[in-house]
Amino acid sequence: MPSRTSDVLVIGGGIIGLVTAWRAAQQGLATAVLDPEPGGGAARVAAGMLAAVTELHYGEQTLLALNLESARRYPDFAAELTEATGQDLGYRRCGTLAVALDSDDRAGLRELHAFQQRSGLASEWLSGRECRRLEPMLAPGVRGGLRVDGDHQIDPRRLAAALLTACERAGVEFHRTPAERLDVVRDRAAGATAADGTALAAERVVLAAGSMSGRLAGVPAAALPPVRPVKGQVVRLTVPGPLAPFLSRTVRAVVRGSHVYLVPRENGDLVIGATSEEMGWDTTVTAGGVYELLRDAHELVPGITELPLTETLAGLRPGSPDNAPLLGPSALDGLLLATGHHRNGVLLTPVTGDVLAHVLATGDLPELARTFTPARFGAAVLTEQPV
Ligand code: GLY
Repeated sequence: MPSRTSDVLVIGGGIIGLVTAWRAAQQGLATAVLDPEPGGGAARVAAGMLAAVTELHYGEQTLLALNLESARRYPDFAAELTEATGQDLGYRRCGTLAVALDSDDRAGLRELHAFQQRSGLASEWLSGRECRRLEPMLAPGVRGGLRVDGDHQIDPRRLAAALLTACERAGVEFHRTPAERLDVVRDRAAGATAADGTALAAERVVLAAGSMSGRLAGVPAAALPPVRPVKGQVVRLTVPGPLAPFLSRTVRAVVRGSHVYLVPRENGDLVIGATSEEMGWDTTVTAGGVYELLRDAHELVPGITELPLTETLAGLRPGSPDNAPLLGPSALDGLLLATGHHRNGVLLTPVTGDVLAHVLATGDLPELARTFTPARFGAAVLTEQPV
């Protein structure tokens, strides 16, 4: 049976779908979200590093600009969300230390430092001794490191919970059931049919279903985002009260070619992540994945072996062909995309909400998001067609 028509239907209630819905509702648009478990998704697994500078990769300078802009917006975004909900987001401006364990790692980190400096980014080279003065739990063998005071962290579970509350308070309607298919009428997205058979009509639809975005039935091939699941396993330890602070900031390294990071939360959680695996839809936590994370983290911070292991989890990043998100109108009229955030979903949450709200309210994709139009992977448009 059809329910009332929304201005905007967001398919997917992870942090990207929720921030889009919240911002759309703030624009006065009647907004609905379709998701069996809003507030879930990859944010349940993510460590929540806001690491525009330490996660800089060659070939991703365009993405860097968007990452930095979102990092710049984070303080105001977090303050507004906390004000709207009364909820603490675990936003910690604690900085990050990227360290090297041997001479090869150190050469790699030196190169990253030079690249950061050429890109105008703030980071400071430290000797091994200086690293250990900052973080006394580091292994004695640490050979040097990069101090990046601007790379912070947020607790993604708290972020998701707060966005859910903010949406509810802003009048967003929730349909807690999976999406069955996109509904298309006369070559235009017209809503979606839920798994329980409910038809949800909408003037515009935003597809923000993370790694699932690439396989929603009913989306024409030309508009289907080229998004794939990239598995990430994480381990959580707990630092008992009297031991805190075990680490005062995020510590990370590349060990034997794999990235490992340790993110200490104020509540005593220590999140260790993450594998990066092309395993399709598999979300099994494997002995090998956990072993490698603990082995690499132990080389950086030997004392972790004393801590209780409280959780192991695997999630799916929505990977895109260039590791950057797809934002804005798709090749199908009325269908917009907010997906493909890959390693940067938590970092890009503020800017994604602003970009999608702008395009939904005005029809135009803002300048800073034009490089991230779905058009770069095929036919699409920069401007919403009138209804
Ligand atoms: N940005 C951290 C990760 O994707 O593992």
